Amino acid sequence: MSIRKAVLPVAGWGTRFLPATKAMPKEMLPIIDKPIIQFIVEEFIDAGIENLIFVTGKHKKSIENHFDVNESLEKHLTESGKDDLLYQIRRISHMVNPIYVRQKEQLGLGHAVLTAEAAVGNEPFVVALGDIILENGEGHIRNMIDMFSRFGGSVIALFEVEPETVSKYGVAVVKEKENGVFKIEDVVEKPSPEEAPSNLAIVGRYVFTPSIFDTLKSTKPGKGGEVQLTDAIKLLLEREEVYAYKVDGKVYDTGTPIDYLKTVVEFALRREDVSEELTGFIQSVFSKQNL
Ligand code: G1P
Repeated sequence: MSIRKAVLPVAGWGTRFLPATKAMPKEMLPIIDKPIIQFIVEEFIDAGIENLIFVTGKHKKSIENHFDVNESLEKHLTESGKDDLLYQIRRISHMVNPIYVRQKEQLGLGHAVLTAEAAVGNEPFVVALGDIILENGEGHIRNMIDMFSRFGGSVIALFEVEPETVSKYGVAVVKEKENGVFKIEDVVEKPSPEEAPSNLAIVGRYVFTPSIFDTLKSTKPGKGGEVQLTDAIKLLLEREEVYAYKVDGKVYDTGTPIDYLKTVVEFALRREDVSEELTGFIQSVFSKQNL
């Protein structure tokens, strides 16, 4: 069965970024001049998935507006001859075929995914979390979908992290099934470094069979009192084989202020229009500090 739909849970409070996220969604924080959520959406569009189901909440209207047409802005850009910007703005609004589903209570990531059940229906689907941007993200989504087509089971993307940072992530135990194909044996949400069964962290990209909805319905609140997607995956492991996909490229975390800042700097240093001036600026800041 082919994969046509993706779910993007974007209803979280963004507490790690307060007060910036009091009235603005965390997903709209910019990496220089592009909101984080646009990177994730582009991943899907480039991978050929256009039916995007956003699980939203209160204060998330700006995400809907971002992917909608803005006629007065288009008129202004046309009149002022800013064709480049006009092209970009139009491209964003024609990019997606969105469905917005409201998560009425913020009961956790697992609950958010379950909220999308009626919109997804009885078919496999992809989930992407807005915290992490992947280099070659579209390629990873394609590879995960290929794995799903080959093996027929859910596929969870993992990446290696430093052992002291495992407590920020869901962590998986994997076992080789055949040459280079790994199955997931166990998962645990945000273990302490001492408890962590490995340093393979869940990166926030998943392909699920619709059975995940059944296991989500019987998932009790876990870490932080929230219904965790990781706990539903643990229940899924009792019913079906679940496969591991290892992300070997660069992973940019934007989930905490310091990780976000590092990601912004790294993107800026790679961008031709700003990198030279920024490098000079950073060097001058350091040399003044060393005086
Ligand atoms: C969520 C998931 C976690 C995953 C992480 C990736 O946690 O619950 O399993 O490793 O995303 O970013 P959050 O960062 O929303 O707390």
